[in-house]
Amino acid sequence: MYKSISLLPDSALLKPEFTFGVATASFQIEGARDKRLDCIWDTFCEKPGTIADNSHGDVACDHVARWQQDIEMIADLAVDAYRLSISWPRVMQQDGSVNEQGMAFYVQLLSALKARNIKTYVTLYHWDLPQYLEDNGGWLNRETAYKFKDYAELVTQHLGHLVDSFATLNEPFCSAYLGYEVGVHAPGIKSQQAGRQAAHHLLLAHGLAMQVLRKNCPDTEAGIVLNFSPTYPLTADDKKAAELADQYHNQWYIKAVLEGAYPSLLDDLADAVKPTIIAGDMAIISQAVDFIGVNYYTRIHYRNTADNWFEEANLTDVRVTDMGWEVYPQGLTELLVSLHQQYDLPKMYITENGAAMADTLENGEVNDIERVDYYHTHLNAVCDAIRQGVDIQGYFAWSLMDNFEWAYGYEKRFGLVYIDYQSQQRILKESAKQYRALLKQR
Ligand code: NOJ
Repeated sequence: MYKSISLLPDSALLKPEFTFGVATASFQIEGARDKRLDCIWDTFCEKPGTIADNSHGDVACDHVARWQQDIEMIADLAVDAYRLSISWPRVMQQDGSVNEQGMAFYVQLLSALKARNIKTYVTLYHWDLPQYLEDNGGWLNRETAYKFKDYAELVTQHLGHLVDSFATLNEPFCSAYLGYEVGVHAPGIKSQQAGRQAAHHLLLAHGLAMQVLRKNCPDTEAGIVLNFSPTYPLTADDKKAAELADQYHNQWYIKAVLEGAYPSLLDDLADAVKPTIIAGDMAIISQAVDFIGVNYYTRIHYRNTADNWFEEANLTDVRVTDMGWEVYPQGLTELLVSLHQQYDLPKMYITENGAAMADTLENGEVNDIERVDYYHTHLNAVCDAIRQGVDIQGYFAWSLMDNFEWAYGYEKRFGLVYIDYQSQQRILKESAKQYRALLKQR
């Protein structure tokens, strides 16, 4: 177990041009539900049995009220950048007009970050779709992609001058697969066809928003954030399963964005499951991006099934986080190098990486040594990928602070900062202190 986060002195991560940050997302931290429209996660949380601890996002980390304190905390961590998302239902009314109060919140927040010289990495969509759009079919309705374009117009007009880097979507895989295919995320739909169609409409929304970003903010970099869980065969006989799972869960998104095509697996899907793709869609989806953001947490093993498909097969006897996810730092290096070999990549950021651990607060301290080890090993895995030629320009820890971990509620803690949800007190964990020490060392 590594008790501190350290890098070799010649590491590319220690160069001044490498960006270090922390990340959050609107629904997971903001609270202040009464000051915005409802989103699909509000509705989902109200359905019995959806959230492990029966919680919701009404208060979360109370960030809308405590944003000034939170910015001080971010500045205190000595990061170069803060990655956050804008809440669509907070800034836009149902008739498409601006919610002045909601927009003003982000103007203040982003201005305060700029004033402290902290770069702003803004994601337009981190899963909080306005409920009125879901009532109209959500991501199954092609029209939602055009609504997203309108939302991108509104955000760029009001906030464009305060943003250093725009990402259209965060993890469309989760929105589509978890939300519409297996139903463990909002809106809780369980249909393979729905999952594939939602993925296509999300990617179309990405492409349409890219056009808006290029038009309204031509000098601001723009891209997309994708999650990857690299796939490995359980045994030598399961290679086919790992290959199919990779196409279905990982390559589906990056190949569409970078090459304007879905993996060959699309052809093997039953016609009833294939998404409807209209001529011209793939060109919209695959406009040039300035960066790809990579979110990495773990790898997954797969085995073949009798019907020539794939199923997850968890390894036993491996170190896992509180999510049950294997700790496998080499997977990050292997992922980045293999993407580099397969694609003509733009620059890359690690937009999320981190671990949930069963933290305990003792005498006012959280000695989260396993998280320190996780960051140490994963940051060094990024160094290894850079050494092998991958252009990685930044790293964002997930997350700044403990927050609403979706279907797991508040039981899973990913923060560098501990949140006491009773008092809303923020307490720096050992990992936060170590991360700060590393950043200050530069
Ligand atoms: C990815 C998501 O973007 C984020 O919202 C989530 O909390 C983390 N992974 C951890 O599961």
